Amino acid sequence: MVEPLADAAFGYAPGKLLLFGEHAVVYGQPAIAVSIDRGIRVAVSALDGPSGPVMRTSGLGLAAPVCVGPEPAGPAVLQRALTRLVELYGTDVRELQFVVDSAIVAGAGLGSSAALSVAMIRGVRRFLTLSRDDEAVLAHALELERVFHGNPSGVDHTVIARGGALSYLRGEKGPQFQRVVLGRPLHLAVGVAGPHAGTKRAVSALRERASRHGAVYEHLFAGVGMLAREARTALENGHLAAVGELMNVNQGYLNALGVSTPAIETLCHVARERGALGAKLTGAGGGGAMLALCDGDAAGAVASAFEDAGFSAFTTVVSNESVG
Ligand code: PMV
Repeated sequence: MVEPLADAAFGYAPGKLLLFGEHAVVYGQPAIAVSIDRGIRVAVSALDGPSGPVMRTSGLGLAAPVCVGPEPAGPAVLQRALTRLVELYGTDVRELQFVVDSAIVAGAGLGSSAALSVAMIRGVRRFLTLSRDDEAVLAHALELERVFHGNPSGVDHTVIARGGALSYLRGEKGPQFQRVVLGRPLHLAVGVAGPHAGTKRAVSALRERASRHGAVYEHLFAGVGMLAREARTALENGHLAAVGELMNVNQGYLNALGVSTPAIETLCHVARERGALGAKLTGAGGGGAMLALCDGDAAGAVASAFEDAGFSAFTTVVSNESVG
């Protein structure tokens, strides 16, 4: 872990899981997303040295700091995110360092880029003693998400900033989201099939496939939307067996959309054999994470079965009290 300097201001944001509707959400269908109990913490402090900003990270798989300014270094996308932060909050940001500590794997569909975006915005606003303005946090985090993903639906940073469970629709008049009040907490086992090839790439490859068979894909997206609507009712009524069944059907659609992989299918089979109520990939797919809905304590056994099959895994509980 990288130690932040004294007098730091902190920003935190959790990771997220998409329970229903990834990809179809890009085409105007509803998605259901939840925040999880692990995330990214950013400590913002004055930079002691040449002009920045500078970002030091742990947990994101980067060995060296990210710098903009006279001697740029580190991944271009993170440099661009720092530059966007200067554009959003002014040249004072050039005198800051961001110490990032991530407890979520990057590039696995767990919302690491959106969590980093929200945590950075929260941290910089606190350091600059700006008001706790939730709308500004959402709007500016979307600006950073655009650096990472191009044209994101906005579901990730919204659920991460708001916390809990949300139904999200990228409407024609802008994004609409509603809180989903869970009838019962969700016990989830998450398996990680490895890093995915990137959300931007997965979304554009799907767009390409969809353009060749427009009517067929429209049907598939509409089917996923129907699942998400039905799942919302089941989640609110606490009918977890029905939620699990709908997750299995959603996974079938994701397979049809071409974003599942043999490793994800293996993890889904392991989960169902171990008694999970339902299992599906989460996020962009093509690798990355999957989730299994379990009956209470069974999540631990399912996560162990994922590890026995050679994958990394964790459990998480989502409730109405989950924080953003
Ligand atoms: O970036 P990920 O892996 O969490 O997936 C984002 C979900 C998509 O629906 C595939 C893309 C989007 O912008 O909503």
